[in-house]
Amino acid sequence: MEVIIRPDAEDIARIVADAFTGLLTRKPDAVLGLATGSSPLKVYDELARRHDAGEVSFARARAFALDEYVGLTPDHPQRYANVLQTEIAGRVDFAPGAVQAPDGLADDLPAACAQYEAAIASAGGVDLQILGIGTDGHIAFNEPGSSLASRTRLKTLTAQTRIDNARFFDDNVDAVPRHCLTQGLGTIMEARHVVLVATGSAKAEAVHRMVEGAVSAMWPGSILQFHRHATVLVDEAAASRL
Ligand code: GLP
Repeated sequence: MEVIIRPDAEDIARIVADAFTGLLTRKPDAVLGLATGSSPLKVYDELARRHDAGEVSFARARAFALDEYVGLTPDHPQRYANVLQTEIAGRVDFAPGAVQAPDGLADDLPAACAQYEAAIASAGGVDLQILGIGTDGHIAFNEPGSSLASRTRLKTLTAQTRIDNARFFDDNVDAVPRHCLTQGLGTIMEARHVVLVATGSAKAEAVHRMVEGAVSAMWPGSILQFHRHATVLVDEAAASRL
């Protein structure tokens, strides 16, 4: 695990954007793993800027979302498929349908999870996965206690994550769905390069446990200690417990 400490989120965003643009230059049909939440937003801004400047193209790339809420209507702005469309996919030149998310409205949710795993596999696996981390150490929606070998599946969100995410639902925790579909820790571990971004003091404990703690299902990010190519990018505040 490589840990890079930088003074601010803009610096971090440039480094992560370099990883994306470098990959897409070498391999224009790369498979990207996209995350939601606030952590990747500056990276997406930087990628959109570079796209507009003609420095990078996503025209032949494909992308997979990490996770999705269950039950949000197709046009709900917080449905992660829509969030990714707004934050990155609609700002660059992905081909129509090139960005996929698990189907949180499927009648048969376990079947939708299996289909999602099959879609990732048939694309050849993820080349570069961007990740954030929750204050309780979750990655994607793999909450504490998640199997370290888990695959894409239906999960129940913890009370803490629903409180953390209420800010995206007009601060109304009751509007935050109770269930989600998420890539498993085993799925994420198969990405060839994972880049995790964390900023701010609220992430300091989770970063400490992920980087220096025992590998444990209670701190799901700690599984990345076993990853062959994991890069952790943090600011001084998120690094303050290292
Ligand atoms: C959310 C997402 C995760 C994200 C995490 C941290 O619940 N499912 O993919 O990494 O929480 O979010 P943020 O980056 O907003 O702190």
